[in-house]
Amino acid sequence: MALRGQKSTLVITQFLFGIIMCLFLVIISLSSGTAAELQRFQHAAKEDGSLSVLVVGDWGRRGFYNQTEVALRMGIVGEELDIDFVISTGDNFYENGLTGVDDPAFQESFSNIYTAPSLQKQWYSVLGNHDYRGDVEAQLSPVLRKLDSKWLCLRSFIVDTEIAEFFFVDTTPFVDKYFKEKEGHVYDWSGIQPREAYLSNLLKDVDSALKNSNAKWKIVVGHHTMQSAGQHGNTKEIVTQLLPILKENNVDFYINGHDHCLQHISSLDSPIQFLTSGGGSKAWRGDVSWWNPKEMKLYYDGQGFMTAKITQSQVEIVFYDVFGNVLHKWATSKQLYSIA
Ligand SMILES: *[C@@H]1O[C@H](CO)[C@@H](O)[C@H](O)[C@H]1NC(C)=O
Repeated sequence: MALRGQKSTLVITQFLFGIIMCLFLVIISLSSGTAAELQRFQHAAKEDGSLSVLVVGDWGRRGFYNQTEVALRMGIVGEELDIDFVISTGDNFYENGLTGVDDPAFQESFSNIYTAPSLQKQWYSVLGNHDYRGDVEAQLSPVLRKLDSKWLCLRSFIVDTEIAEFFFVDTTPFVDKYFKEKEGHVYDWSGIQPREAYLSNLLKDVDSALKNSNAKWKIVVGHHTMQSAGQHGNTKEIVTQLLPILKENNVDFYINGHDHCLQHISSLDSPIQFLTSGGGSKAWRGDVSWWNPKEMKLYYDGQGFMTAKITQSQVEIVFYDVFGNVLHKWATSKQLYSIA
């Protein structure tokens, strides 16, 4: 009897010890500043395993500056390609984002513009610097998703289609000048303070999500340019902080807006393809710097958009102008059965 009593005391002690250890580990992981994982959305590819997406950026101008014409053409091409979803590279609402969830710009620049049946798919949007000049929480709010179910905008998140994984990264808070020389603009930094911790957690999250990805194709989407001959050029903060993570984790494409053009740069020092789709409305004619022609596959300083057709073995990207002319077509392939 005495022996049995001792045994059960031992079991209870071990049990309590286990609970205390678990609590201890939870507290350690909470306090070490490792942020939660990025929010993840599953979006199934087509039955044949392929996926088609359309990418547009820098668009919300109540239909002006050819936004409506680009939207019409997106609808036609979207139908032909049977697109699965739309990616918005940010600067969703000009000039200063949304004033709130009741801002009529949401309808005037989005719902009433992208009316084609083929565009009534899920949109996945990041925020641009102009969006940060308004009420950021409004764009992220589920209230807008109720008003128009195709809308979805978050700061940083993942869309997993199995063959391809899309990593959406909030690039605006990286850029020093928005904090230092504000040029009279007011930015809504309420959700990203303290900035240092926000950025370092975001980089950690992107790095670990990329490392854990088994997708055949890894595609990173952000608003700001990494390699660009356009007006803004390369965004030095993300070149130094984010690009090394992309290189280390074998990312295939970096897709952005910010420069109001269409552009494809094949960098000589990395297999990453740099794609700019920022031609959703107002374009900047003639605003281009010299770039090594060995790397520059396309620079178009007018309006338009991009599509990508993705299969296990190939990705084909196509850039279109406002008339639906194909400006540039480019494909890359990977062995069907490769390790990693
Ligand atoms: C609209 O697109 C056409 C064709 O590219 C161009 O000639 C015209 O200047 C554009 N209008 C605006 C306001 O950008």
